[in-house]
Amino acid sequence: MNSKDLRTVRVGVVGCGYWGPKLIRNFQSLPGCELHMVSDLRPDRLEHIAGLYPGVQVTTDYAELLASPVEAVALATPVRSHYEMACQALRAGKHVLIEKPLTTSARDAEALIALAEQQQRVLMVGHTFEYVPAVNYMRDFIARGDLGRVFYVNSTRVNLGIFQKDINVIWDLAPHDISMLIYVLQDRPTQVSARGAAYVQPHIEDVAWVTLGFPSGAMADIRVSWLDPCKIRRTTVVGSKKMLVYDDVEATEKIRVYDKGVDAPPYSDTLEQFHLSYRYGDITTPAISGQEPLEIECRHFCDCARNGQTPRSDGRVGWQVVRVLEEAQTSLQSGGQVRTLSW
Ligand SMILES: NC(=O)c1ccc[n+]([C@@H]2O[C@H](COP(=O)([O-])OP(=O)(O)OC[C@H]3O[C@@H](n4cnc5c(N)ncnc54)[C@H](O)[C@@H]3O)[C@@H](O)[C@H]2O)c1
Repeated sequence: MNSKDLRTVRVGVVGCGYWGPKLIRNFQSLPGCELHMVSDLRPDRLEHIAGLYPGVQVTTDYAELLASPVEAVALATPVRSHYEMACQALRAGKHVLIEKPLTTSARDAEALIALAEQQQRVLMVGHTFEYVPAVNYMRDFIARGDLGRVFYVNSTRVNLGIFQKDINVIWDLAPHDISMLIYVLQDRPTQVSARGAAYVQPHIEDVAWVTLGFPSGAMADIRVSWLDPCKIRRTTVVGSKKMLVYDDVEATEKIRVYDKGVDAPPYSDTLEQFHLSYRYGDITTPAISGQEPLEIECRHFCDCARNGQTPRSDGRVGWQVVRVLEEAQTSLQSGGQVRTLSW
């Protein structure tokens, strides 16, 4: 369909802190989308947004946004506010996009899913990495069997800051890795453990290691930190046929596929006969679209609101990630005990 034929979806964005303005910029420029109103409790932030986008209405009163002709609401407010604000939006008949993580508890996530169903409205969570072209390349590569059996994954997401005041580093950064792993492996972890430490702010862990076990036997370890001198956003997937590295900090060559591996002999009678054979093949860097993931995500939300289709990262996917986060938190508090998750 030609973009000028799209029915216009009126969008409201709530929260103009760090992340909200990125959503605002994308909704503002999307065909078939009218950024109608923006809300924040801070008048200075609204003044800033009104200066950038003079046609957009602004309000410090969320109720005013809910009473407006906005039909789809994007929430970029602190995580503790997600549940209550999303309930209000759904009850007001709005479609809702909630920034990650969906809620602070699986119970709240379930209640939101039920409310969205009852109201027949779209509920989507902003799992940005499900909209990253490189991540979709990884998913397809694995699904085609080109990597072989996935043995293990390492995902590192560290840099200096931004220190959050109300959630620890697991709830802040690990939703990206957990949602990406569930999406790429098309499987859900059944074992979760986590360890971490609070070095800077009392009782708010700034460094953590989360380990996931999947039914296939694949293992994943995630390192998240607000306290690291270098910005690293790297995921390594080791398979039986090939190995793949996704480096989100790389400007263009975000994916490298290594034709490397080790094969054990099919049989050997003695230890002397047991020789592993190593493969050192080509390293390839596939061409990956440079489209901004958040633009893809915002466009998808508008399409779903317009057509009533179920989003890729719907409430259920958001709930799955929150369940893993909850188990990781429980494990963290018990010093790293392995938790079992059934689905
Ligand atoms: N997808 C991503 O990559 C990504 C990146 C960063 C943050 N986030 C998510 O975005 C959300 C916001 O994070 P942030 O870093 O922008 O936080 P922030 O603290 O910088 O901004 C939050 C804003 O919400 C406003 N706010 C709070 N309560 C409000 C209310 N009742 N009505 C209107 N405005 C209200 C605050 O005044 C503030 O300006 C979080 O869920 C976070 O996890 C996602």
